[in-house]
Amino acid sequence: MEQTWNPLDYEKNGAFVHGLAGGVLEWLDAKPSEQILDLGCGDGQLTGRLVSTGASVVGVDASPEMLAAARSRGIDAREGSAEALPFADCSFNAVFSNAALHWVREQDAMLAEVRRVLRPGGRFVAEMGGHGNIAAIRVALAAVLARYGYGDRKGGENYYPTPASYARRLERHGFKVERIALTPRPTPLPASGMEGWLRTFCRGAFDALPEELRQPVVEETVALLAPVLRDEEGNWTADYVRLRFAATA
Ligand code: BEZ
Repeated sequence: MEQTWNPLDYEKNGAFVHGLAGGVLEWLDAKPSEQILDLGCGDGQLTGRLVSTGASVVGVDASPEMLAAARSRGIDAREGSAEALPFADCSFNAVFSNAALHWVREQDAMLAEVRRVLRPGGRFVAEMGGHGNIAAIRVALAAVLARYGYGDRKGGENYYPTPASYARRLERHGFKVERIALTPRPTPLPASGMEGWLRTFCRGAFDALPEELRQPVVEETVALLAPVLRDEEGNWTADYVRLRFAATA
């Protein structure tokens, strides 16, 4: 099941994605002379922050809608998949990625590609969902989908590894892992709350449902989650867990 994106919803409901990315940008520590690839650049908001370091930055993304949004921000954004990067060998000093790698289906193909496009000694610095990411949200949505007979979401689940397993995977591809850490990051959601989050970030799951089931599935998932993720004043917090790493080729 492919995820689809709506850049306007993303801008309204997902601004925290680039807003909270300061830590991984610090780990990258981009230099003005560097050629950097932003893997899964999305709407280009964070890519723009990379560009402002003075580095020469190119983004790649599989979503035509997000690419259009990135290009409208002046980003050099190319269409391509993480498993088949449209760049020559040894093109970059660093590959950077935020909140994208957990969507990649073929992790080994992606890591081979990242290694291929990096120069020797180049850096791969990224943050993604890690083990336990959005656990409550996933369980609630799965329970409601199962109740409606749509429990079999083969191919629809993202990948949220532990630091140990991802470090081993990086090492199998010849990377030297410099730092890797798993951090719970409870994330306050904007006023659109859990409904806005589900409609923005789980579009793939909802697109697979008949139109008449979408609203009841959203409402029942929100109702299941309210006791654990909504506070007494009605504010929602999503149970994000981040895996951040810096590795060298
Ligand atoms: C994440 O960034 O962890 C994420 C966002 C939306 C859906 C799934 C995971």
